[in-house]
Amino acid sequence: MKSAVILISGRGSNMQALVEAQPGLDFRAVISNRPAAGGLPWAASRGIETRVVDHKAHPSRESFDAALAQAVDAFAPDYLFLAGFMRILTEGFIHRYPRSILNIHPSLLPSFPGLDTHRRAMEAGVKLHGATVHFVTPALDHGPILVQAAVPVLEGDTEDALAARVLAQEHRIYPQAARWLAAGRVEFRGADVVQVRGSGVAGDWAIAPRDPP
Ligand code: GRF
Repeated sequence: MKSAVILISGRGSNMQALVEAQPGLDFRAVISNRPAAGGLPWAASRGIETRVVDHKAHPSRESFDAALAQAVDAFAPDYLFLAGFMRILTEGFIHRYPRSILNIHPSLLPSFPGLDTHRRAMEAGVKLHGATVHFVTPALDHGPILVQAAVPVLEGDTEDALAARVLAQEHRIYPQAARWLAAGRVEFRGADVVQVRGSGVAGDWAIAPRDPP
């Protein structure tokens, strides 16, 4: 069985979705850069090893990433899942784990990389928003896309309502990506394109707004 470590910074609802889905990966540890991350006690309660590598204890990104790499390497994982992990990783760290770091981002990349994606989507007036699971490369919130889910932006939406609609999809597609990785079905076509062997296009690939009948 392939193994994984999950990196979090906060509540860790994506981490919970990953673990609870039992995707066929051995989740060896959850590591947080924040000692108070709400997801840590949950992981511990499931018998998963937890570690804190506090970014505030490090004078530079390089020194934080070196400590993080040391913590990760102790578990020798095949994959690293960033799940609400709010630190920008150095190029050195990313190159250490080629084609092995996954991230979930709350937008349909390449639209809206970075923060405040739901507010920015509403301000831009897009009609479809969503979430993306991608491999991590040194370009922030870019990298080969593994799976996306779209949701409608509805009239009268608030940022919170839209965020909740997207989060429900995040909890669906991150475990899906984990299952594909566990099954060894993820293939690279060149450096930028990823395909999943035998996936086809599922009927629920997008949820689009419709006129009422
Ligand atoms: C999620 O929306 C994730 O996509 C983003 O930050 C949020 C973290 O939520 N990067 P959680 O900690 O997984 O609940």
